[in-house]
Amino acid sequence: MSKSLVVAIDGPSGSGKSSTSRGVADRLSLDYLDTGAIYRAMTWALLERGVDLHDPAAIVAAAEGIRLTSGTDPSNPTIHVDGTDVAEPIRSDEVTGSVSLVAAVPRVRELLVDLQREAIGGSSGIVVEGRDIGSTVAPDAPVKIYLVADPAARAARRAAETGSPDAAATELALARRDEIDSTRSTSPLVRSEGAVVVDGTFLTLEEVIEAIVGIVDAAR
Ligand code: DC
Repeated sequence: MSKSLVVAIDGPSGSGKSSTSRGVADRLSLDYLDTGAIYRAMTWALLERGVDLHDPAAIVAAAEGIRLTSGTDPSNPTIHVDGTDVAEPIRSDEVTGSVSLVAAVPRVRELLVDLQREAIGGSSGIVVEGRDIGSTVAPDAPVKIYLVADPAARAARRAAETGSPDAAATELALARRDEIDSTRSTSPLVRSEGAVVVDGTFLTLEEVIEAIVGIVDAAR
């Protein structure tokens, strides 16, 4: 395997990025980094500290002192804030509803992009999922995927994951988060230069993984 294989997988919420990225990493014996979990962990930590998330200066002041660590084993991805395991609480509705505010603050992105690049630099081969991996975090990644799915399919998948009985409300919440993530001024969600679009709407998880494994194999 080439020394520094980076597979960048970007796309909107609910496109199946996490299951797909873990599956690809597992199939190819690569490390795995969930950058969304890092933004979520920062949001969780700020909420815990009672920081006003509508005050970017307060966010930055607190963020500088928060230490995040994430494990890169695809069969056991871990995320800690100052040593506390936060894998579960970062999936709460409160964090999900607030994370876009935190992710829109440029200095927070700088801090977290540095952290992500450290993890990537320390790995000999890694699948990295997020919104700006191909555009900003790892623009030289030899493989870039932009994973999409029809909004209704994404909402149905997310509602099934969270146990929500209301797929329409989930679709609305996803659309709102996409809107914020796509229109922020720093590193918005975009299909980056050279990214291959994979549409998972009518594919099973295994088929999406297979398609991406094929793209990675062809690139190395
Ligand atoms: O993938 P996710 O839903 O866990 O991501 C949570 C939030 O983090 C999402 O609203 C956008 C933000 N995010 C980001 O801005 N940049 C990334 N590379 C990954 C996630």
